[in-house]
Amino acid sequence: MGSRRDEPLPEGGSLDRQLVEVRAVCEKMIAERDVPALLEMIAREGARLMSADRVSIFLLDRERCELLSQVTLDGQSIRLDARLGIVGACVMTGQLINVADAQQDQRFYPSVDAHTKYRTKSVLAAPLRSPSGETLGVIEALNKKRGHFTRDDEEIAKALAAQSAIAIETATTLQALKQRLDKLQAENTQLWKEVEGRFSIQNIIGTSEPIQAIVRLIDQIRDSTVYILLTGETGTGKEMVAKALHYNSPRARGPFVAINCAALPENLVESELFGIEEGVATGVKRHIGKFEQAHGGTLFLDEVGDLTLAAQVKLLRVLQERVLERVGGRTSIPVDVRVIAATNAILDNAIRAGTFRQDLYFRLKVVTIHMPPLRRVREDIPLLANYFLRKYSQEMRAAPKKLSAGAQRCLTKYDWPGNVRELENEIRRLVASTRRTIIGEEDLSDTIRAAFHEGGVSSTEPGGSLKGAVEELEKRLIAEALRQSRGNQLQAAKALGLSRQGLIKKRNRYGLKPT
Ligand SMILES: Nc1ncnc2c1ncn2[C@@H]1O[C@H](COP(=O)(O)OP(=O)(O)OP(=O)(O)O)[C@@H](O)[C@H]1O
Ligand SMILES: [Mg+2]
Repeated sequence: MGSRRDEPLPEGGSLDRQLVEVRAVCEKMIAERDVPALLEMIAREGARLMSADRVSIFLLDRERCELLSQVTLDGQSIRLDARLGIVGACVMTGQLINVADAQQDQRFYPSVDAHTKYRTKSVLAAPLRSPSGETLGVIEALNKKRGHFTRDDEEIAKALAAQSAIAIETATTLQALKQRLDKLQAENTQLWKEVEGRFSIQNIIGTSEPIQAIVRLIDQIRDSTVYILLTGETGTGKEMVAKALHYNSPRARGPFVAINCAALPENLVESELFGIEEGVATGVKRHIGKFEQAHGGTLFLDEVGDLTLAAQVKLLRVLQERVLERVGGRTSIPVDVRVIAATNAILDNAIRAGTFRQDLYFRLKVVTIHMPPLRRVREDIPLLANYFLRKYSQEMRAAPKKLSAGAQRCLTKYDWPGNVRELENEIRRLVASTRRTIIGEEDLSDTIRAAFHEGGVSSTEPGGSLKGAVEELEKRLIAEALRQSRGNQLQAAKALGLSRQGLIKKRNRYGLKPT
């Protein structure tokens, strides 16, 4: 397609010399990783090698079907329709074009000249084609210093174009990768900040003595890898403490792997914890266990009291020797894992009953942290409630809310059998369902309000006697029945399945005098 001219071949192998120079330029190009600097280098060296007045590099923007030249020798950037002009013809056909007098050529597109105030005479355009055959753009030389572009110039343009395409593709790929990497690194730093903020020790709320003691202890042992046993009722913050221990320790950037031993079917416990080799039974695939997944980090063994005895034996061995064998495996795999175990059962009872190994218990509880039930740290309830109010108002983009004095009294009086989790859920519900900025007593859940008005305190303490718990329940049911019957004893007795005399006896015994 190029209008080739019969030029006399240069004497004395001058093309060879020039091609040697092209090669030298190419070596410099390959070393240049910065795309604008590379394009500028190609333009500058191209102009020198082909004795052109200027050289521009056009890169093809396929999506917009445009050619963009950011680097021209006079520093102007040009964007044009990829189908226009001699460069357009070059990129569309993929052929070199050599034109002695552009003004006479039909393909010439004069508006660029008008825009750049340049007068184009001769043009030599070569396509930039990547090794995979994709057209990346065009290298265009303008106005040969003397005469017009020769066949030697065409050879130089082709060689330069071939090498430039490789260098440009490499540099743009690297640039894109670097941008991605920078973006990922920025995101990663941001995410780590959020993770560390979320699990920071400051987020363990409470000024009561038991909570403060726990916070002090966590701070003291944050750099050590001692095994820890967390005990306490449901919802008291065992997992929260385990995460705080992990994310504030030197292992913070390692994995935090949690496994709930109670939720594991008995036949899967060992393979889930320690992994399994392929082919142990028909169709069994190789599986990496939680211990190996937690290598370099922390393994949180939740409800550890529910482990099978066989799994307990294996666990003890891993804790003692710091190596494990996968189920059906023969090699010992070293593991570096900090174990934090949790239980809301009283393990002493399990040991007595023979369902939990004492030696394992002693291994696990190098440090024991007991999380108090919320009703034992009532003074922290307003603090926690306000903390959750702030947290969920922000999260749900709701206006900041406050608790009325009455609501606060109710919350403080209630026994919270589900502990902090129950309080957190109650506040989350209130933030989602109340539009007013002051949350009143009447907004609270019925059970919480009822508990306040009955004035009862539950006796669901672990370790409390059955008799005490039954009495407590009786007291509550009687109070509730009386409240509903508005003090009518006969009606209340009927509802409770008691005789009137029976009810009166119980009222006297429990000190529930008629009001
Ligand atoms: N002192 C506290 N400060 C702030 N949030 C707390 C506190 N204690 C508990 N929480 C929150 O209460 C919720 C329940 O806590 P967590 O899941 O750690 O309880 P758990 O003891 O592991 O309960 P379970 O035995 O049921 O698994 C979590 O959202 C936790 O962040
Ligand atoms: Mg838990």
